Amino acid sequence: MSVTTPTRIRVGQGSAGDPAATDAYDVVVGADLLGELPGLVAGARRVLVVSSEGLRDAGERARAVLADAGFEALLTCVPDAEAGKTAQVAASCWSELGQAGFTRSDAVVGVGGGAVTDLAGFVAATWLRGVRVVQVPTTLLAMVDAAVGGKTGINTAEGKNLVGSFHPPAGVLCDLATLATLPVRDLMAGLAEVTKTGFIADPRILELVEGDPAAATAWDSPVLRELVERSVAVKARVVTADLKESSLREILNYGHTLAHAIEQVERFTWRHGDAVSVGLVYAAELGRLAGRTPAELVDRHRAVQGLLGLPLAYRGDRWDALLTAMRRDKKTRGDLLRFVVLEDVGRPVRLEGPDEADLVEAYRRVSA
Ligand SMILES: NC(=O)c1ccc[n+]([C@@H]2O[C@H](COP(=O)([O-])OP(=O)(O)OC[C@H]3O[C@@H](n4cnc5c(N)ncnc54)[C@H](O)[C@@H]3O)[C@@H](O)[C@H]2O)c1
Repeated sequence: MSVTTPTRIRVGQGSAGDPAATDAYDVVVGADLLGELPGLVAGARRVLVVSSEGLRDAGERARAVLADAGFEALLTCVPDAEAGKTAQVAASCWSELGQAGFTRSDAVVGVGGGAVTDLAGFVAATWLRGVRVVQVPTTLLAMVDAAVGGKTGINTAEGKNLVGSFHPPAGVLCDLATLATLPVRDLMAGLAEVTKTGFIADPRILELVEGDPAAATAWDSPVLRELVERSVAVKARVVTADLKESSLREILNYGHTLAHAIEQVERFTWRHGDAVSVGLVYAAELGRLAGRTPAELVDRHRAVQGLLGLPLAYRGDRWDALLTAMRRDKKTRGDLLRFVVLEDVGRPVRLEGPDEADLVEAYRRVSA
């Protein structure tokens, strides 16, 4: 593949004179990156690699690299996807750490999709009130979103991501070659987050997709590599400025208000990226109705996501359930629904408490 030297993108601010005293870390994008793992956990004696059943080989490769470097390296494989993001699974990881005598200076490595990196981050955040975690994301969504930024969490019976903590990783290794085995539908779903990033902050992302949509879905293309690097760079900038989602970080939720509601109404049988794709078109239509978003920009949402084969519409008979779900969203404050809308590419603004008539009309426009 065309990947040569890895690209390093810094997240967080290093303090002059003592960079180790900060939460800053690098997201590395490239291939064959496992050789960087030992350096990232230096000082630890024991390392627990958390991976999932379907990714046992990838987890074992990471464990072997650490064992070869002299660490006492253990591997645990949790159930795939959301089945691994539970309190019971977290508790089984804590037991492993306890039985192996993990101390404050030991470390956890997450190898997998966003579900695994969320769980591994959460386990690391809570063991002895926080040990180091290194993330090795293996899906596009985890590379550009879940593994970057330090949000960790698990689900409860009442909903997704209700329990969690902010716990920045010590490093993130995005090995593009791991995407070779990712089903193309999952790759495409990750691209919904990539286009979101383009709309909120980086027009070049949109041009890359428009210029060669087929290359955007090929794991070994330089186009996909640039899309990953640019998306990570935007997320890095935003979370560096706003670690805990007080204000700027909100722009990353562009398209997500409706997307989360669709996921809930569909009981999480929709891929997150597919729901985000519809949510982006919805937010664009809402912005247009509120007099903020130009019509051509709304059309561009449909064009770009259409080129990637992402869904642009959702069934038209679910408004009451969607509205109820949006009102319950974690990010709703009081009774006011909050959206991010665009005045232009790269110019997101907050739209608070939009007219109910606009909400309904925007839904009509994204109804299949
Ligand atoms: N912490 C955050 O900021 C953040 C942001 C976005 C999403 N998330 C979370 O991320 C999760 C979704 O992540 P996801 O889309 O990566 O899904 P996922 O982790 O559920 O992975 C999807 C499926 O792909 C499999 N898989 C992973 N890598 C593979 C590979 N290289 N080859 C073949 N199969 C592979 C997994 O085993 C799983 O079955 C959700 O739980 C969501 O809440 C967190």
